[in-house]
Amino acid sequence: MKITVLIGSHRRKKNTQDLVDAFLENLKEGNEIEYVNLLDKKVEICLACDYCRQHYDECIIKDDREAIMNSFKESDLIVIATPLYFNSVTSRMKIFIDRTQVLYNGWYHFKDPIFKEKKNVVILANGGSPTYPNQFQGVDVECQHFLGNINANVIEDLRYNNTDRNPIKENEKAQRELREAAIRVKELLSK
Ligand SMILES: Cc1cc2nc3c(=O)[nH]c(=O)nc-3n(C[C@H](O)[C@H](O)[C@H](O)COP(=O)(O)O)c2cc1C
Repeated sequence: MKITVLIGSHRRKKNTQDLVDAFLENLKEGNEIEYVNLLDKKVEICLACDYCRQHYDECIIKDDREAIMNSFKESDLIVIATPLYFNSVTSRMKIFIDRTQVLYNGWYHFKDPIFKEKKNVVILANGGSPTYPNQFQGVDVECQHFLGNINANVIEDLRYNNTDRNPIKENEKAQRELREAAIRVKELLSK
């Protein structure tokens, strides 16, 4: 099984990476894992030029978007991992999401979805503050819209808060939950 992990944190080796590491602990063996850390990728801002409305599955900007899309296409599981920035995904993640407009035009304007098969997706999000109303609302809204473009089937959605005071690295409960979620995913995907 191929797993692509899209990481939207602006920091390396911090909470988001720790979420990913704990989750993947039980999925590493026997699976091909491709890490797409947006810090290492060149993904330009969408120009809103409408090129992808005239050209099926093509973007006028030649950067790492296409390779990331290809990894998604080849994957049995996609993990989306993001910190919370102003109740939503990070700006790097948002830039990437905007570039899935190519996919949106595939199904909406060309009536021919680029992602024809359902894709299994896991969402891992974390916010630094203790819980407050609507804390993850932006993640909900953003993911709901964007994940439609990749025909996603969200099989696990784990969110942690208070990571500024209680980092994932020191949070045994969170780590256990993440490992358990991975076992559920493994069972589901082996059926
Ligand atoms: C620009 C910025 C905005 C943030 N906005 C929020 C927020 O709205 N709510 C929240 O709970 N935490 C917020 N945080 C805290 C991060 O979500 C938290 O530190 C998270 O664990 C960072 O992930 P990382 O360790 O992978 O960088 C924000 C942090 C930054 C830098």
